[in-house]
Amino acid sequence: MTNSTSIINEIREQADIVTVISSYLSLTKKGKNYFAICPFHDDHTPSMSISFEKQIYKCFVCGASGNVFTFVKDYENVSFNEAVQIVGKMVGINYDNVHKNTPVKNKKEYEIMNFVCKYYQNNLKTSLGNKALKYLKERHIDEKTIDKFKIGISLPSKNNLTMILNKKGLDISYLDNLGLSTKSTSYDYFQNRIMFPLCDEDGQVIGFSARIYNNEANQPKYLNTKETSIFKKGEFLYNYNVAKKEVKKSRKLIIVEGQMDVIRLCANDVNYCVALSGTALTNYQVNMIKKLRVPVYLMLDNDNAGEEATFRNGEILEKANIDLKVVRLIDYKDPDEFIINKGIEELLKFLKKPMSYLSFKINYLKKNKNLKETKDLVKYINDVIDSLKNESDDLTIEVVLKKLSKQYDLDYNNLLKKLNNNKEKREEKKAKVEITKEEKKNKVTIASEAIIYLMMQDPIYIKIYQKKLGFLPLKKHRNIINDILYFYELNGFVNMADFISFSEDRQVNIDNILEIINNNSEIKVSTNEMENYIKVINEALKKEKIEKLKRELKEENNEMRKIEIVKEITRIKKEV
Ligand code: UTP
Ligand code: MN
Repeated sequence: MTNSTSIINEIREQADIVTVISSYLSLTKKGKNYFAICPFHDDHTPSMSISFEKQIYKCFVCGASGNVFTFVKDYENVSFNEAVQIVGKMVGINYDNVHKNTPVKNKKEYEIMNFVCKYYQNNLKTSLGNKALKYLKERHIDEKTIDKFKIGISLPSKNNLTMILNKKGLDISYLDNLGLSTKSTSYDYFQNRIMFPLCDEDGQVIGFSARIYNNEANQPKYLNTKETSIFKKGEFLYNYNVAKKEVKKSRKLIIVEGQMDVIRLCANDVNYCVALSGTALTNYQVNMIKKLRVPVYLMLDNDNAGEEATFRNGEILEKANIDLKVVRLIDYKDPDEFIINKGIEELLKFLKKPMSYLSFKINYLKKNKNLKETKDLVKYINDVIDSLKNESDDLTIEVVLKKLSKQYDLDYNNLLKKLNNNKEKREEKKAKVEITKEEKKNKVTIASEAIIYLMMQDPIYIKIYQKKLGFLPLKKHRNIINDILYFYELNGFVNMADFISFSEDRQVNIDNILEIINNNSEIKVSTNEMENYIKVINEALKKEKIEKLKRELKEENNEMRKIEIVKEITRIKKEV
């Protein structure tokens, strides 16, 4: 057992999940379990149950689940290690020194990126950096901000960095993989640009965004690190590592378009902001934002592209049920220029009176339409009614429809009827989608997940699995099983709460595990049940084998071989 595993288990053992969660939420006891208003979705009745016996929590509405550490991690927006530290403090066990020794995935990659970041920073301080420094000064970026954002420069050289890294014994294909050198030419990927490091949730440098500063023609303004093993564009938001902590005080998150906007806001002590970096939000990024559980202020550029992006991203955020507000600045093109010219106080005034996303949208929908034309007007009215389908506040609906009815001389009751008709249709469609989703989760998956769940309860089930099955059809399930077996081998016991921290500590993605825990908490824990699930899998495997042989039989021309296949099929059919 590694040193950190045993201490993590000890902290988990000492910290009762009910006591810890009750220091964050108020709990009520019902039967064996405790209940709370779930902090991980917009909850109104207590949907989260906390089990003293199992030392886990689960929300039966949003599906959040886990052990004492995952709760603290998600509630406080901290890393797993920080969560262990926090819980450790509560029970008087010091975790500070231990976690530094735990192996980190991609450790080497992080070390290189960190080295490269320092190298770029240092370049800026040499005489070669004078021109870039002048550029930054002209943009009102002071020393303090340069240091805070670790801004540097890449040199006007074809291979200065590649050579230095080669001397450290790093192979060019390795550097190519990190997006630092180009394999085909052995040249530096970034040359003569101002370098902005991009950091992950823990503040580790994982990539760079690089800006020209000489007004070079025929060059893109920004060049960014391509997808690498540690940098995934769709999983990154500029300044997220800082913002996720700041939002706890500010109780709001600002989303801007460019990293320069973030830098300007932060230079003015508004640190609760992230930048989109020019693309539409991915599901992953939406989840990162949702996790913060604060209202989001979308404050994009004050031009046509910014308006389009507000709509595109607004739709995405709205669909995710995020409390969304919109700020449209005036006079200047983006928050950066606005603040330089009018000061942070003026910008904060705009933040204090944001638009609702609905008002933004109702106005936006008029764009490119001539409302004097019947066709355009009908389309507009339909679009507005459609955008009300998610609105839960009756008063808002009434106000919007009354305005429409007055402005375009339409019958209010007709508008309302239309909205309600749309809503009904949508509900029906939603119900259908849910049913097909359930059907898709087939018997084998359900049985596999139940088997995994049981194996996390008691070694008895591990033994049964090893003796009677030893295999699950899906790779993602096999991976979890291997981890459970490994956990058992190391610890000599097994339980869900410790298995969760064990997986987190080894940086395994635990989403699947938590989903299984959440979906199976009502199943009967007994060896009989286990045998039944195993039967389901074995039957399915048998069926699959037979199907495969039948297909072979059809295509086989050799008579001898055909007889063999038939024999094999009969043999499998007889197997129990
Ligand atoms: P902006 O042009 O709004 O960025 O593009 P900015 O921060 O205001 O840049 P400055 O003020 O001119 O220095 C928004 C984002 O789009 C991405 C960058 O991430 C930028 O922050 N972008 C823009 C690129 O990736 N490549 C480009 O050529 C331009
Ligand atoms: Mn800008």
